[in-house]
Amino acid sequence: MQPDIIPRNTLYYTGSEQRYMAEAMEARRLSGDGSFTERCRAWLKLHTGCGEALLTHSCTGALEMAALLLDIQAGDEIIMPSFTFSSTANAFALRGGIPVFVDIDPDTMNISPDAIRKAVTPRTRVVVPVHYAGFPCDMDAIMDIGVEYGLVIVEDAAQALCSRYKDIPIGRIGHLVCLSFHESKNIQCGEGGALLINDLQYVGRALVLREKGTNRTAFLRGQVDKYTWVDIGSSYLPSELNAAFLLAQLEDAEHITKDRLRVCEAYHRLLHPLHAAGKITLFDRAAHPGGNGHIFWILTKSLQERVALSAFLRERRILSFFHYVPLHSSPAGRRLGKFCGSMEHTDRAFECLLRLPLHVGMAEEDIRAVTEAITQFYDNGQVSGRI
Ligand SMILES: Cc1ncc(COP(=O)(O)O)c(C=O)c1O
Repeated sequence: MQPDIIPRNTLYYTGSEQRYMAEAMEARRLSGDGSFTERCRAWLKLHTGCGEALLTHSCTGALEMAALLLDIQAGDEIIMPSFTFSSTANAFALRGGIPVFVDIDPDTMNISPDAIRKAVTPRTRVVVPVHYAGFPCDMDAIMDIGVEYGLVIVEDAAQALCSRYKDIPIGRIGHLVCLSFHESKNIQCGEGGALLINDLQYVGRALVLREKGTNRTAFLRGQVDKYTWVDIGSSYLPSELNAAFLLAQLEDAEHITKDRLRVCEAYHRLLHPLHAAGKITLFDRAAHPGGNGHIFWILTKSLQERVALSAFLRERRILSFFHYVPLHSSPAGRRLGKFCGSMEHTDRAFECLLRLPLHVGMAEEDIRAVTEAITQFYDNGQVSGRI
């Protein structure tokens, strides 16, 4: 019999999702901003220490709200890594802003503060650090650049809930912080997100923007006697069903994070001999603490080697994946954005980075199967044999 496939990700349920969703149904109120949304909001505020937390239907929605809140105008420049998802750039390009792509730090895959500094112009308004794989960016350096040049920092923390930067939870640092609860994330509800606000001047308008440009929230709070259209806006609220599912996951966040870190630690330990022998490069977990175990990646020496390794693993029913096609070389990125400086490390990440299977409850024997297959690939000289 064929062994079971080891998938890249398997959805984890805490066991409380159905109960909470049934409660939401019994309450006969499924539209946004009900009691489950409120409980998620309270959880996010308590556990990140952010000033305000607004659930959205996605991280994409939260990023779009950020661009609206900052009143991004045509020609404004927004500095971000090229090694990220389209939503990081789209949110600002939708307002006419110009994404300015810069390179990453090869040790962490996160935006390089030096590259940010070199890309600042009089048109720069915003910097968007993306915490790749849940590992926090160098936030001290980035916040300092923000202060020096008067820039707003919008963190794309799609992958980084429960990560910590120097013991400060991600969510408490940047002016605005965008989270994702897409099913590919550690804590998820299918599709979902949140906008965390630390610069409280943005809260009032954010409440209007996400309620279709109306002051409905103020009306529901008894602050005005009727609600009406007061500003531009859109619909960013998730339904109570999503919030009910999400609450179950948030309440289990500590266990989820701990278990994913267990898998990362085991991978690191078992693959370290290959790293020490110079065959692959591992992320230096000791030098860069604070991650949430979202992604475990390795770097091969070349694109061909990564393709061969991934195929070798697939033959053994182990699914591994590369990651972002850099935005500076994507068709829309070339049309709507520009890039500043060398993209050496971004291009290398695109060619050589491989994500290994990782999910809550991953069996030790599966972790070993993955690391033994990788070791076998290098021990057998498959690298040269296949290229
Ligand atoms: C860095 C980054 N930003 C934004 C997003 C978009 O998140 P969502 O699917 O919640 O809109 C993703 C999705 O994977 C992402 O990886």
